Amino acid sequence: MKIRVLSLIIMLVASSTVSLAQGYDALVRQAESKIAAREWEEALALYEKALATGEFSYVDFHNAAVACAHLGRIDEGYSYLYKAVHAGLLDEDRLSKDPDLEILRTGSRWQAVIDAVQQELEALEKACPETREAGPVVDLPPPRRDGTLSVEAALQNRRSIRSYAHDPLTIADVSQLLWAAYGITRILEGAPPFIRGGFRTAPSAGARFPLELYIAAFDVTGLPPGIYLYQSETHKLMLISEGDKRAEVSEAAFDQSHFETAAAAIVYSAVFERTTVKYGERGRERYVCMDLGHSAENVYLQAYTLKIGTCAIGAFTDLWLRKTFRMTRAEEPLYVMPLGRME
Ligand SMILES: Cc1cc2nc3c(=O)[nH]c(=O)nc-3n(C[C@H](O)[C@H](O)[C@H](O)COP(=O)(O)O)c2cc1C
Repeated sequence: MKIRVLSLIIMLVASSTVSLAQGYDALVRQAESKIAAREWEEALALYEKALATGEFSYVDFHNAAVACAHLGRIDEGYSYLYKAVHAGLLDEDRLSKDPDLEILRTGSRWQAVIDAVQQELEALEKACPETREAGPVVDLPPPRRDGTLSVEAALQNRRSIRSYAHDPLTIADVSQLLWAAYGITRILEGAPPFIRGGFRTAPSAGARFPLELYIAAFDVTGLPPGIYLYQSETHKLMLISEGDKRAEVSEAAFDQSHFETAAAAIVYSAVFERTTVKYGERGRERYVCMDLGHSAENVYLQAYTLKIGTCAIGAFTDLWLRKTFRMTRAEEPLYVMPLGRME
């Protein structure tokens, strides 16, 4: 079955990222206004500068290709288009109708761009299952329900930390952090199935609990390197894939320096449908990301009490994370939170 590809416009909004390299956001904003004004040379120069920061979205590559097309810089135009496809521009219909790409479409190399889209879609379909098959389950030690550090101290001292000591975390740390993020704190017998077990540490609009949490273990004592899905209902992990995926996660997040020393990373995705089925667009535009914020703040606060550093990361390439974490097709990645002992 074909992966549903959202329209370029929706994806443009969804893929906008928080700046990690100084100037990227400002440069892209200026470049977009030049595109809108059809000032192609100025737009291209700004995109070149923005992309030189190391951050990108496929929209940037697409717009740079558009500018090249209008300037008659055909080779560069194709080169940017391939980069856009590789970064997640997989809407063949949109590509085939885009009037700004006309000159590229008339060339004999156009079919190769469409083939590249097909290859990416096939790879995505292979990597991202329609439904999740059960995998081997890993027990987590029970989380602590009490501690010595006050909420006030955690609130006062929490910071986004981007560099960590070269020490491993333990499976007990992972257990505690995942419980804080989305652990079940009140079992509800006979509740509607969408609640999936009970109320959790984080509130959720309509108790729809749209979030999925993964842990990528790079260096965790008691947990072999790999990618695991957190199962709140049982407080267990399910193995998604074995092996150290530090390089893949880092690359997806534009090689932000955090991953040089992180021992693990929590990755959030959401099944928006769980919330939109009840709340429609309001669920998409507001509630799911509000749910995410509640849960991620719990991770920040709990991490501080464990002397573990973390940082919410919103800047990454969706497509690459989806493939690395083998997310189901209904999931959209939202946050990456690297974890490591404070230095
Ligand atoms: C939605 C969102 C996205 C973020 N994305 C990134 C990111 O990609 N990289 C990064 O280093 N920090 C990222 N941050 C962290 C912010 O830069 C950080 O929260 C801010 O500078 C305030 O610092 P503090 O968290 O230490 O108070 C993000 C924060 C939020 C809320």
